[in-house]
Amino acid sequence: MPLTHHTAKDYAYPIREIVDIANSISPYVSVPIRWENIGDPVSRGHTMPNWMLDVIRDTLPEATGYCPTRGVEHTREFLAGLHNLESGPSIQAKDILFFNGLGDAIASLMSVLSPEIRMIVPEPGYPSYSTLEALRCDKACISYGLDNAHDWQINLDELEKKLKLHPEIRLLLLLQPSNPLGTLMSLSTMQGLAEIAKKYSLIVISDEIYREHVFEPQEFVSWQAVAGNLPSILLKGISKNLPWPGARCGWMEFLNCQFSGELCELQNVLEKKKMLEVCATTLPQLVIPKLFSDLRLKPWFEESNRFYSSRQHQVQIVLQKVLGVQVIKARAAFYTSVLIPSIPACYADKPPFDSQMNAILEKNWINASHDTRFCLWLLVETGICLVPLSTFGGSLQGFRMTVLQRDETKFEKLLLDIQAGLKRILMQKAA
Ligand SMILES: Cc1ncc(COP(=O)(O)O)c(C=O)c1O
Repeated sequence: MPLTHHTAKDYAYPIREIVDIANSISPYVSVPIRWENIGDPVSRGHTMPNWMLDVIRDTLPEATGYCPTRGVEHTREFLAGLHNLESGPSIQAKDILFFNGLGDAIASLMSVLSPEIRMIVPEPGYPSYSTLEALRCDKACISYGLDNAHDWQINLDELEKKLKLHPEIRLLLLLQPSNPLGTLMSLSTMQGLAEIAKKYSLIVISDEIYREHVFEPQEFVSWQAVAGNLPSILLKGISKNLPWPGARCGWMEFLNCQFSGELCELQNVLEKKKMLEVCATTLPQLVIPKLFSDLRLKPWFEESNRFYSSRQHQVQIVLQKVLGVQVIKARAAFYTSVLIPSIPACYADKPPFDSQMNAILEKNWINASHDTRFCLWLLVETGICLVPLSTFGGSLQGFRMTVLQRDETKFEKLLLDIQAGLKRILMQKAA
């Protein structure tokens, strides 16, 4: 009798799986690994300003105990107040539930949903959702496409067709801004989506973890702005905006429970589940009101966004020079996705390295997608660790890189090395 559930072997999180591969080859490559796979500002040289560190240090003595299961009361009141400054349905402290990072929130949500109902997710999208959704239902994930020809907006007609075909879909995931693309939904797409959500009685889950990282002049439209009376959950957290992903702090905001017994029930079950785990980490919760009301925060966000936006621009300039690639113009977050539509098969079915390296990589190479092989090849040749785009779901081939590297010289070298790698691989096709 196996110890684990039969679907457990399919757990996949490509953003970190590539780390194990990189670590296993690192003793045999002559260059250090450059970690461009993970959205962790700290690992790329971003530091917390001293004023933030001081606030955290001063708060620590009050934060050594458990906190209430739903989260620190005055922090939830504070966050409900921030939420209510924006247009759309208002909430109260009772509508907020804290987790140990949004990863924990996503896993908890997936663990309590009935296997008979389905969540439809964007393609490409953050892989935790698609993997957990497929595992909990033991069926392929149902997804909706983002349209390259229309600035990566949701193809609403295609979405509606999927909803007609699958009446079991009861939840829709929105990634606003998108990870991996760094793109944004327009107000009119969001309004169209709201009409569809109403027509098909969907509960919308809007993951807005990158909401503070939207580049000027682009405006961020929260799902809250178009939700009206629709039952919805906003997902927010501090991992991406406070350079403190290790705090493990994220929360759910439940909208319009008064109009939906189902959403009330879902909130109730999630709260009970949290009780089994006692509570989420106390320290970041106590710090949030202090940091978020500090006048130094807004200019700090603005500076970070100018930095990410100019890095995006550099990527565009250097990589778009390679014939046969499309650098997706990101308007938010800290990633750039690069499409390689006609990527070649890359050295057929056997890795092209020396016998020692081939032995390590063989199992990752065989049956791998073309973009996975490209990423492995670049990793061995240059130490650059990227995430293949196909691992975010869908048919797009290419890679996602971060634009976090603080060191200008290292960033320029990184781009030139990727550019050279792309040229070599695309020449292989021409040869
Ligand atoms: C879209 C999205 N949602 C959720 C998460 C998880 O965030 P956390 O660090 O709070 O677990 C990430 C992390 O990269 C993400 O990109």
